Amino acid sequence: MLQERFAFRTIDPSNMEEVDHTIYMEDVCMPPGEGCTREEILDRVYAAPEFFLLAVDKATGEIAGYVNGVATNESVIRDEFFSEGGKLHDPDGSTIMLVSLVVMPQYRGLGLGREIMRVYAEREKAKGRKRMVLTCVEKNIKMYEKFGYHLLGVSQSVYGGAVWYDMDIFL
Ligand SMILES: CC(C)(COP(=O)(O)OP(=O)(O)OC[C@H]1O[C@@H](n2cnc3c(N)ncnc32)[C@H](O)[C@@H]1OP(=O)(O)O)[C@@H](O)C(=O)NCCC(=O)NCCS
Repeated sequence: MLQERFAFRTIDPSNMEEVDHTIYMEDVCMPPGEGCTREEILDRVYAAPEFFLLAVDKATGEIAGYVNGVATNESVIRDEFFSEGGKLHDPDGSTIMLVSLVVMPQYRGLGLGREIMRVYAEREKAKGRKRMVLTCVEKNIKMYEKFGYHLLGVSQSVYGGAVWYDMDIFL
């Protein structure tokens, strides 16, 4: 049903309206200080567009949600993956550092967040990727456990002044 309603595709970095809309979505969806800035998002969009997956409402063309990350051979997320992820991106890395997942409020509760994560994992597994890593605040741990992620413990990341937890999944 979600596959019928939504198209899952890579962001188009040459479409500034599309890129700007993802920046707007981050502002709408993330609590102040926890979301990525315009510069951080642009850095990743241009360095690693194929690692930025959109879910687009086929009926309206609206971007309903997205997840994005970069590839690396490092094992856990440090703050620089948020602030300069594009520069750290190694297209041949075996691990994906996921740095942002959002679903617009009007599309929540449909299972879209789970489906975006599932499609992303399948794509990366097909490319030979071994593992995906993310950090989240405490209230989201249960959700990622439902997606199959394992809790590793408190992260070294202090991005936005929050306490973050490391989680990972093997593909
Ligand atoms: C978190 C977010 C992406 C979830 O998107 P969504 O499309 O509503 O999620 P889904 O409908 O796929 O939910 C999947 C499961 O997770 C659960 N879930 C969703 N959000 C949750 C949360 N914050 N805490 C715990 N469980 C949650 C759902 O109840 C559902 O469980 P079920 O299958 O047992 O019913 C969305 O609420 C969002 O964009 N929030 C703001 C940004 C954010 O916090 N992103 C995560 C950054 S670490």
